Amino acid sequence: MIYYFSGTGNSKWAAEKIGEKTGDRVVNISDILKSGSGKIHIGASVLFGIVFPVYAWNLPKPVAEFLKLLEVNRGAYCYAVCTCGDEAGYTIDILKKRLKLKSGYSIKMPNNYIPAFDVDSEETALQKVRAASVKLDSVCDDIIGRKECFDYDRGRFALIKSYVAAHFFNKYALSSKPFYSEPACNGCGLCEKNCPTGNITVVDGMPFWDEKCVQCLSCIHRCPKRAIQYGKFTKNRGRYYFNYTEEEINGQKGS
Ligand SMILES: Cc1cc2nc3c(=O)[nH]c(=O)nc-3n(C[C@H](O)[C@H](O)[C@H](O)COP(=O)(O)O)c2cc1C
Repeated sequence: MIYYFSGTGNSKWAAEKIGEKTGDRVVNISDILKSGSGKIHIGASVLFGIVFPVYAWNLPKPVAEFLKLLEVNRGAYCYAVCTCGDEAGYTIDILKKRLKLKSGYSIKMPNNYIPAFDVDSEETALQKVRAASVKLDSVCDDIIGRKECFDYDRGRFALIKSYVAAHFFNKYALSSKPFYSEPACNGCGLCEKNCPTGNITVVDGMPFWDEKCVQCLSCIHRCPKRAIQYGKFTKNRGRYYFNYTEEEINGQKGS
């Protein structure tokens, strides 16, 4: 079984790609959390994968919540794949302390954190996805062969980023308050439908954000009217969600 969390589709795509190659079922962690699921037992000799985006060089909150539900038999083959715009910091190391991983990988994908940075250029984004596709093929070979392998990019100053910066991010940056919709909003309700934490409600044609936001930014990136903003900086920044066809990805695979 492969469990994934995803805001803008990168990690969902990675999970589905692994699912296709390994023949494993893919399950959305958001659905599990929304359903109020009890403990999840992972049996011996089972393939158990977890795929998710890196948030502030650490685990996203829903993934940390999901880990609390797990009861994993020591004989299971557990692996993790995190997607990140640039560097994963100590994310996989932190996960290793909570889950007995046999393998762990970071995969560079288009960046979606627009409160701080702009999105990647179209060319860079496509290059990242193509390189990711190549790396995922070899990750799948490892998983099928139940290899023990760790291949992730911590980047520079990883300790400070994963422990100090992540602490401040979780303490101060998860607020919903800076979200607002502009007059271009037509109340279509896609933001409410797509929010993986059920944090948005559209009332009288306008979205309202509750306080359960985990900052996945699905609402901003997927708004067809570009009508959602977060604070002062997102207005002039690009939008991104995973929308590549196999033909686009395989065009010049790995180039
Ligand atoms: C709140 C937030 C924090 C992020 N922090 C990092 C980070 O620390 N390092 C990094 O390389 N990318 C970071 N990113 C970028 C995402 O990890 C990356 O774009 C990921 O592939 C998005 O996955 P998704 O499309 O499945 O949501 C961050 C994105 C968000 C929304």
